[in-house]
Parts: sequence; C-alpha cells; structure tokens
Amino acid sequence: MTRSKAVAGPAPRQGVLDIAAYVPGDDRSRAARVFKLSSNETPLGPSPLAVEAYRANADRLHVYPEGSSRTLREAIGATYGLNPDRIVCGNGSDELLTLLAQNFVSPGDEAIFSEHGFLIYRIAILAAGGTPIVAPETSETANADAILSRVTPRTRIVYLANPNNPTGTYLPHDEVKRLHAGLPGNVLLVLDAAYAEYVRRNDYASGVELAAEAENVVMTRTFSKVFGLANLRIGWAYGPAAIIDTLNRTRGPFNVNGPALAAGAAALADRAHLERAVAHNSHWLDWLTREVAALGLRVTPSVGNFLLMHFSDAKGRGAAEADAFLRDRGLVLRRVAGYGFPNALRMSVGPEEANRLLVASLADFLGGGRG
Ligand SMILES: Cc1ncc(COP(=O)(O)O)c(C=O)c1O
Repeated sequence: MTRSKAVAGPAPRQGVLDIAAYVPGDDRSRAARVFKLSSNETPLGPSPLAVEAYRANADRLHVYPEGSSRTLREAIGATYGLNPDRIVCGNGSDELLTLLAQNFVSPGDEAIFSEHGFLIYRIAILAAGGTPIVAPETSETANADAILSRVTPRTRIVYLANPNNPTGTYLPHDEVKRLHAGLPGNVLLVLDAAYAEYVRRNDYASGVELAAEAENVVMTRTFSKVFGLANLRIGWAYGPAAIIDTLNRTRGPFNVNGPALAAGAAALADRAHLERAVAHNSHWLDWLTREVAALGLRVTPSVGNFLLMHFSDAKGRGAAEADAFLRDRGLVLRRVAGYGFPNALRMSVGPEEANRLLVASLADFLGGGRG
C-alpha cells in the first residue's frame, strides 16, 4: 500500500499559531541575593493564617476538592457583600479571562482591548478563533471613546484592566460607566480588577456595582497580588447569573485545588495583613515614583503595586542595558516590549531593601558607573 508523501499533521484551530506564548517574569541573576520584582507579587508574602490553612490540608491530598469552590465563594461573598451564587472561582483569574473568550467569542468575532492592555486578552481572543482589536490609549491610559469607536456588529467582548498592567494607570468610575453606557447590550464588558485593593483614589471603583446591576458586565479579581497567593492560582469572577452559568459549564470540574480554597478563605479573614500590604505599597510606590523621577527617568503614574519607568534612547542608557545592570545587582525587573514599550522596565514595589537598592543602582547606571 502506498501512502501519500505529504501527510499533514494535526492542525490547530485558526488563531492558535498567531499567539505569542505568554512570557512570565523571571528571577535570573548571578547576584548572591536576588529580588524578583518582575511579576507584581507582594513583598509581604501571604497571611500566616493562609499558610496555616494550606498546611492543614497536607493530609488530604488524595481527596478531590470541593468542585464548586463553595466555601471560598461564601467567604468572598461575606467579605465583599456579594451573592455567592453569582461568583465563580478559577485557577487564577487568567483561567476565567480565557474562558470568557471561549464562551463568547466565535471564529470571525472581534474583541477589544486597549493599546498597552494586559497580554492575556490577546491570547484568549486568538485562542477562541477571534480577532483582537486594539484601541489606542491617551497618556498610557485606556480611552473610552477610542474603545467605543472600534465596536462593530462583530464585537463580543471589551476587556479592560482597571488599573492596567503594565502601565498602572486607571479609568475613573465615571469613565467606566460611560464606556458601559456606550456599549450595545450584547457586548460583554470584562472589568479585570486584579489590583483593585491597592488603589487609593476617590474616583476609582472596582466595577462590583456595575457587575451587580448590568446584564453584560463581569468583574474579575485575584488572590495572586495583595493576598500573596500567586503560587496557588486563585481568581474569581462576579457577574450576572447567566454569565456565571456559562463559566460553570465550561470550567474544569475541580479547577481550584483544596489547599488553595482553604488558604484563600483564611487570607480573606486576615484584614490586618491586607491593610499592612496596602500601607507598605502606598508608601513605597510614592517613594519610588518620586526617587526614580528625580533621577531623570519618566515614570508612568501608577495606582497599582508596580511602576513603569522609561529610559533614554541614548546609546548604552536604554532599558536593555538597565535590565542587565540591575540584574547584576540582584534586581530582576520586567522587560515590556511585548506591551508596546521597547524602552521601559516595569518594577514591582518590593521590600524596603530592594526599593532602596533599586534607586541607588539606577543612580549608578545613569551616572555611568558599573558599580
Ligand atoms: C491585569 C491582570 N489581570 C489578571 C492577572 C492574572 O492574575 P492571576 O491569573 O494570577 O489571578 C494579572 C497578573 O499579572 C494582571 O496583571
């Protein structure tokens, strides 16, 4: 029997090979002491209560977790005053952001996000076979009118990170409401509020009220940032029952593991730890913004737990050189070329020692010394 020479292998669906795989922040440095400031993790770590709850699950590793994350949903509901039936937990909020595209975007459909928006949106849209539509920003901030002007009959989702990563900028609640009011009812507005707890602005809102009232708004949150549980992968979404129902139909049946569920609920109960993390961030974010700017670098004004600094085009003074210089000192920041910032670095607010070392090292770098 002869076989055709050109046997085609299995082909992925349309869009998959257009995806540039997400590159996580790394911690590579030859320095003896390394500060990983590349993934917006909290320098305070998780609440000790969360660690204890996690450990208490060690002798139950052979038992399946609660499939619907009920206890954690109830704890979230009690903490934020929300109906647990309208909450779904995910293996990180990434899972939920991706599932929303799987559920609402078909091949040929469009979904919109902003110019420097979080990269997972593009990946999620392409993985669903959809077309990513990019709306330009103004002053490195999402622009409601630019987003609205890109809505077509094929638009299914608008993703908005508020505040956004990697810029740290945000849209005031009035602008979010105006954006929502301008969207057709069949377009889902996804408000990704991964950094909401850090924001200290009177005109900001996470979107919880909109998600409570509107039929086409869902808000996502995470335990990875201020709660310090990134390694456990816990996120959640709150929204209209019909949207939550689609997520429950398509998520993995045991998508959040038992130790994570227990640790998440314990973390919510430790308000003092949360307040310490927020206070630390507010103090050092302000300090870093001031000190880095004083060295002559432009800093995008951030309300998150990270800041974006822009380097000069002068030879030897760019982001790539700064990254290498800082790594030698044990400071690992994030390159952000994939976000449209080829000459900037994003830095997570770290512990005091790392923040001070960063400013001193940057001064050396900009002053020309190799320390
Ligand atoms: C804006 C934004 N959304 C969502 C996430 C994902 O968080 P996780 O999947 O850990 O919940 C991140 C993480 O960096 C983020 O920056």
